[in-house]
Amino acid sequence: MKTTLSIIKADIGSIGGHIKPSQNLLEAVENFLRIEGKNLMNNFYVGHTGDDVALLLSHNEGVGAEKIHKLAWDTFIVGTEVAKKQGLYGAGQDLLKDSFSGNVKGMGPAVAEMEIEERPNEPFLFFAADKTDPGAYNLPLYLSFTDPMHNAGLILSPAMNKGFTFTIMDVSYTEGDRTIELNAPEDLYDIAALLRDNQRFVVESIHSRNNGEIAAVVSTTRLHNIAGKYTGKDDPVMLVRVQGAFPATGEVLSPFSIGHLVAGFMRGSHTGPLMPVKRNSSISFFDGPPVVSCLAFCVHNGTFTEPADAFDHPYWDHIREKVARKATDIREQGFSGAAMLPYSELEYGGIVEKMKKLDTQFRVKG
Ligand code: 13P
Ligand code: 13P
Ligand code: MG
Ligand code: MG
Repeated sequence: MKTTLSIIKADIGSIGGHIKPSQNLLEAVENFLRIEGKNLMNNFYVGHTGDDVALLLSHNEGVGAEKIHKLAWDTFIVGTEVAKKQGLYGAGQDLLKDSFSGNVKGMGPAVAEMEIEERPNEPFLFFAADKTDPGAYNLPLYLSFTDPMHNAGLILSPAMNKGFTFTIMDVSYTEGDRTIELNAPEDLYDIAALLRDNQRFVVESIHSRNNGEIAAVVSTTRLHNIAGKYTGKDDPVMLVRVQGAFPATGEVLSPFSIGHLVAGFMRGSHTGPLMPVKRNSSISFFDGPPVVSCLAFCVHNGTFTEPADAFDHPYWDHIREKVARKATDIREQGFSGAAMLPYSELEYGGIVEKMKKLDTQFRVKG
């Protein structure tokens, strides 16, 4: 029997600005899922990263299943009602449509799903990030799946000797899903040429070339493409299978030690380093810094183990200090140049009005 793993996440309201959901909201979400999802799914886990609530579900309905998406949508509606009752900020922030229509993709929530034939042991990683966008995973995935500097298995393990296929999406194309497939290692420079542009090209999924199986899947939503204006960042989730024909857990975690600079700090408009944080972490400095959490699970016959918190280890305390320093460094530059995102990323906000007004005040001399 095949198992489907689905992460569906949304920001449906938060305490004190964009910091974290309330305990009442999380409890309402869990209770609803437990009762309403009883006959639909095998198992679930609910967590939050910053102000985003992520549902991890295991079921047998396949990818994009209406029943599962409707369950997640209804769950977020119930959570939003609690958010409204408590006066939480941004209640229902990511629910951009009035009623459910078959699939939550394109309605605001972020989705990462894969259908797998479970291996006898099936370890996988559940990533959730806040104050950033799906391109934040580009560099870590490139390094984990193609670079022996991070993935020793590319040298040591025959199970990975054929490399991986990257499916990359052009997220600026709004007519449909525009994707390209490229193979590592022979297309490495082409993969890098696309993945350098985190706002336009995003890894959608990765497959093993040794056994053809899916290794990783990323949510690729761009909220401003749906809403036509800035409504919040596209805080992305990701599933990565590990060990065997896939990288080891430590090889997937390794690039997160860089704390690379990503989009999404304060009002989704600034550049900041991505900080690996513990489970259920909140947000603080300058509505950031951008954060990523990683929970490791095993699944067997659709049932999850308890999560192991991959960034809850003394090693990552040292990285968090480094990333905090990088965050301070770039913040010292305020709005100037590289510290703020380019105009194309801000154009859905109020700056358009400001620029229009200023444009009329320019004079050409001579
Ligand atoms: P074990 O020998 O503990 O299974 O470890 C193998 C491995 O993948 C280490 O990265
Ligand atoms: P979220 O997308 O996490 O809601 O953050 C919005 C924001 O603008 C924070 O400054
Ligand atoms: Mg928010
Ligand atoms: Mg968020």
